[in-house]
Amino acid sequence: MAERKSGAWRLPIHDFQDDIVANVRRSQALVVVGYTGSGKTTQLPQFLHKAGFSKNGLIGVTQPRRMAALSVAARVAQEMKCTLGRKVGYQVRFDDCTSQETQIKYMTDGCLLREFLDDRELSRYSVIILDEAHERSLDTDILFGLMKEKFLREEEDSSRRHQLKVVVMSATLDSSKFSQFFNNCPVFEIPGKLFPVKDVYCNMIKPEDVKNPSYCSQAVRVVMDIHTDQPQGDILVFLTGQAEIEKTCDILYKKSEELDYRKTCVTLDVTSLLILPVYGSMPTEQQQRIFSPADLGVRKCIVATNIAGTSLTIDGIRYVVDSGFVKQLSYNPRTGRGHSSGGYPLSRSEAIQRAGRAGRTAPGRCYRLYNREFYDQCMPEDMLPEIQRTSLTSVVLSLKSMGIHNVLRFHYLDPPEERMLLEALKQLFYFDAIDRSGRVTPLGRLLVQYPLPPGLARTVISSSSLGCQDLLLPIAAMLSVENVFIRPGEGKKQVEAQQSHQRLAHLAGGTNDFTTLLTVFQKCKESDSPARWCRENYIHWRGVKMALSIHQQLQGILDKQTQTADFPRQKLEGSPSELLRRALCDGFFNHIARRSATGRSFRTMDGHASTVFIHPSSVLFGEEAQLDWVIFHEVVWTSKVYMRTVCPVRYSWVQDLLPKLHQLDLSSLSGCQLIADEPTPTAQDQDVHKPLLGGQGRASSSP
Ligand code: CDP
Ligand code: MG
Repeated sequence: MAERKSGAWRLPIHDFQDDIVANVRRSQALVVVGYTGSGKTTQLPQFLHKAGFSKNGLIGVTQPRRMAALSVAARVAQEMKCTLGRKVGYQVRFDDCTSQETQIKYMTDGCLLREFLDDRELSRYSVIILDEAHERSLDTDILFGLMKEKFLREEEDSSRRHQLKVVVMSATLDSSKFSQFFNNCPVFEIPGKLFPVKDVYCNMIKPEDVKNPSYCSQAVRVVMDIHTDQPQGDILVFLTGQAEIEKTCDILYKKSEELDYRKTCVTLDVTSLLILPVYGSMPTEQQQRIFSPADLGVRKCIVATNIAGTSLTIDGIRYVVDSGFVKQLSYNPRTGRGHSSGGYPLSRSEAIQRAGRAGRTAPGRCYRLYNREFYDQCMPEDMLPEIQRTSLTSVVLSLKSMGIHNVLRFHYLDPPEERMLLEALKQLFYFDAIDRSGRVTPLGRLLVQYPLPPGLARTVISSSSLGCQDLLLPIAAMLSVENVFIRPGEGKKQVEAQQSHQRLAHLAGGTNDFTTLLTVFQKCKESDSPARWCRENYIHWRGVKMALSIHQQLQGILDKQTQTADFPRQKLEGSPSELLRRALCDGFFNHIARRSATGRSFRTMDGHASTVFIHPSSVLFGEEAQLDWVIFHEVVWTSKVYMRTVCPVRYSWVQDLLPKLHQLDLSSLSGCQLIADEPTPTAQDQDVHKPLLGGQGRASSSP
């Protein structure tokens, strides 16, 4: 527990500074386990810095979540009394705030993965801290494997050794897997325990609600009950995503304004409620407010995604309200895959973590909106690691570009299903990122440079070769941020928002959701006051602002690439709108659907022949009868399977591409003759000249 000592906060980890430093000196890998809030993320890098590790290179700390990287870097810069970006900096996708002076660098796991592409030895670093390892994010899992490979290479050839250390940090005690992975490396446990937390099952969500839970209004009821009935202490509500959080906060504002404290409240210690939303893409300026203590008599109510589970520690919480649902790592630009709108049931181990947030500084209570049956029947024991439930296309391209060809034999903490790896290889083959023998193509080497899913990167390259990159780059940027359209849940605002979005869609031509995104981007950019323009048009300014910066970075990468001689060029006749759609076809032809003979449904043409519908938010919703072939950006599952962000295409544009979808079938891919066919690598191309699966293991590091 944090306690004041000689004017400074003392955290549990402070008592073990010397022990931890000695452990890091002694062994190449170390696992550090400590409950959330013990000081791992903010203090441990500072310990190593003070002990002199940063003299030999950067201390890099990875976080699965962008917002956590930003917020802890800001906090540590403040503690070390330096300007953020100097001695302490951060780097997240599309935002690098580091300098020559930087010694402690917080970054997303994805950023470190990209650094591996340029330097597999990570020679700029002295220590890599893989934080939040228990989250088991895809990129952190891959980093585990890459670190292990590096250590194995060093073992074989000691001249390579540059004494890089790895520290794995986790908030859950179950750490043996991490230690075993690094040759049974030592585990350091930061002692400390939580105060008791009483469980209250509210019986509002039952097993039959699993597909369609309505936790927002339920959460509001429980929060208002706590606020009026329970003594002082802040409330932390766990919901799933930004939209649910904003909706819930709206209702909470209203309810708390209507409250007559004299009549309804049991204690008059608290006389107002301060409602604070927390989600991954929220403005940085607002983030700091969640950490500041509330004024006397004010109760804070923080409404958060899973980010407040273990990544961010907020002091003063006595009451937790758990919806029981989660959007797994809510923002995943790589997959472009939708999720069911209500999220997935949380795992029991995460539910225990959430409840723990109520017992950090005093005994607390956890209100679970679900009942005991839901907990027992619907919630899995542990969450499935992301690597086992997500698209691996980007990761496989990265590995192959690093020269790791046998992606089936890579050192995984938990291997993904072979089927998922084969699917990723297939996708890469569709986009010409790898050839039939699994070699990364020159195009693949261009694609991997974009922090975009390979399909989207493919459209960027195509657009440039067709001369319509000015139309496509803004679209690619807009597809890389969360949905920018604000859709209020009810009332007059809902109608206004709908009208405004329709107006924008018609301004864009009224037939293509991708160009609607372009119009939003352009109108906003041209406006004298973009923030006001967004507000008036029910658009998230934060999202568009981010897209503006992404656009610049994509332009930067593309400009460099087009200067090279082997950049692909095509000559096609057509209007700009047509060329744009043809560029989109190159990256999304596997997302193609054809209207069924009857009705409003479509059939996907990727070999699965699934039935899909146009999403009601699309400008083409209701226009199905006019359509034949369409491509879509993503599908979302709600009551039906919907295509979101759709545009019509002509069969003649895709007819040459479509056969590719059927050229490879998974069973033949996993068959061993492909492996047996492995060509003998020559010295020059040994990093690329392997069959699709990468052949029978690499000499240096196969298990
Ligand atoms: O990583 P771990 O969960 O072990 O703890 P931490 O993130 O290092 O947080 C240690 C303490 O720093 C927390 O208890 C917070 O009081 C404080 N903190 C803060 O006030 N503001 C932040 N942005 C991060 C941490
Ligand atoms: Mg932490």
